[in-house]
Amino acid sequence: MVTLSVTQGDIAAADVDAIVVNLFEGITSPGGGTGAVDRALSGAISAVIADGEISGKQGEIAMLHTLGKLPAKRVLIVGLGKSARLDAAVVRDVSGLTARYLRRVGAKRAATIAHGAGIGGLDAAASGQAIGEGTALGLYAFKHYLSRKDGEPERELEEMTIVEQDAARVAALEAGLARAKIIADAVALARELVNEPANVVNPARMAEAAAEVAREGGLEITVLGREDMVEQRMGAMLAVTAGSANEPKLILLEHKGDPDHPENNIALVGKGITFDSGGISIKPSARMWEMKGDMSGGAAVIGAMKAIAAFGPKINVFGVIPAVENMPSGTAQRPGDIIRAMSGKTIEIDNTDAEGRLVLADAISWIRAERDPKRIVDVATLTGAIVVALGHVATGVMGTSQQMVDAVLAASKSTGEKMWQLPMFEEYKRQNRSDYADVKNVGGRPAGSITAAFFIAEFTGGVEWAHLDIAGTFMAERNKGHVVKGATGVPTRTLIQLIEDLAVAPP
Ligand code: BES
Ligand code: ZN
Ligand code: ZN
Repeated sequence: MVTLSVTQGDIAAADVDAIVVNLFEGITSPGGGTGAVDRALSGAISAVIADGEISGKQGEIAMLHTLGKLPAKRVLIVGLGKSARLDAAVVRDVSGLTARYLRRVGAKRAATIAHGAGIGGLDAAASGQAIGEGTALGLYAFKHYLSRKDGEPERELEEMTIVEQDAARVAALEAGLARAKIIADAVALARELVNEPANVVNPARMAEAAAEVAREGGLEITVLGREDMVEQRMGAMLAVTAGSANEPKLILLEHKGDPDHPENNIALVGKGITFDSGGISIKPSARMWEMKGDMSGGAAVIGAMKAIAAFGPKINVFGVIPAVENMPSGTAQRPGDIIRAMSGKTIEIDNTDAEGRLVLADAISWIRAERDPKRIVDVATLTGAIVVALGHVATGVMGTSQQMVDAVLAASKSTGEKMWQLPMFEEYKRQNRSDYADVKNVGGRPAGSITAAFFIAEFTGGVEWAHLDIAGTFMAERNKGHVVKGATGVPTRTLIQLIEDLAVAPP
């Protein structure tokens, strides 16, 4: 991973492969660090602006070679957009894009000014954090299965240093970077688990990944296997795993941040379907490979727990991951089957592809029985319907506790992971009625994301609960800012933020 640091000094004096300065939209004669570099280059930056090669729009990049006028070989000028619209999300995105640009041109060591920390109005810690997150996450690549071609030079951006003129800001920038490293590590772990194929990341490997997080971070871990599930009568977990040769695992990672107040707690429950073929209600083969990512909710919870262990917020957090593979076989469950969940409720299986809500049901019943959580947030690649509703832009948020929904939305606002609430009007609930069982696992096509949420709500009882449907946001089609093609790691950052928010100001 790229090494991130801060030093006090003059960006124009940095002896690196490239220095990064910035430009707001509409500025014709730059000031601050950009202005200093412009003067050292005899007005080359002003000339590039005057010639219309860069206007400061967000994400624009112009590169100049310094030809000996500065210690650094190159200068990158990056557009930050309109100064009035600058926030941490802009800095994070621009930093990601810039880092990939630097890697592409072969720069190994780079230095940057603290975007937005001056006239941008961001505080230095937020700027440092956004630069750190954007740089580390924008460079993330999943390529350890690719053989290197002979003689091909390795291009890696190895160092990024924030060079800050004002000594009073250095400590805050460093604090921001320190947070960014922990957060980016957590997101990278989530992305890695999602990008790994299902022949590698099966339920046992999910449990191993969780165990490693527990070992490194000093968390407690409990892992249930098939026998335990039989003992606990987890009929819903067992029904989904029935067709798979891979043993299911129910994973619990615990952060005991407030042991004197056991009721100051929350459960984060992440859907961990390591592959969703659909089961007997098999999916079409086009893009079925994406279902290796159907454990993205679980991956986000494992990633978040890693950061939570590092930050140590004063709250007890239960990370729960039902890890199961959904496969068709002679032993698989069938449409029409009636099963009994751990809670005692009977479920008519209308479609074996609606398996996420089944494993979540038992995971929620189990953690309620074991730890009596006061709040539950579940995260799941749950429905194709959420992609219809919100596209690949926003995660859907639902819940029976508006307070929890609001806490999630507030956390998402500060991380920039876009989320949007869908209503849980009582009228939708009847769609889950079954003629033969207490509830049916599918509520039909209309409002499919909401009826899925209502199914989960059958098992949350009176616990304050919010539900995040990430089926539209767990994967990206192309690179964009700090997001790279493939697994996004959403909503790892928001889960971390939520826990920190709740630890500071419990609702
Ligand atoms: N894992 C899928 C949902 C999904 C779809 C995730 C697209 C990511 C991208 C889920 O298990 C599923 O198959 N849901 C069905 C439910 C239906 C049978 C009621 C769906 O949405 O089609
Ligand atoms: Zn499915
Ligand atoms: Zn699924």
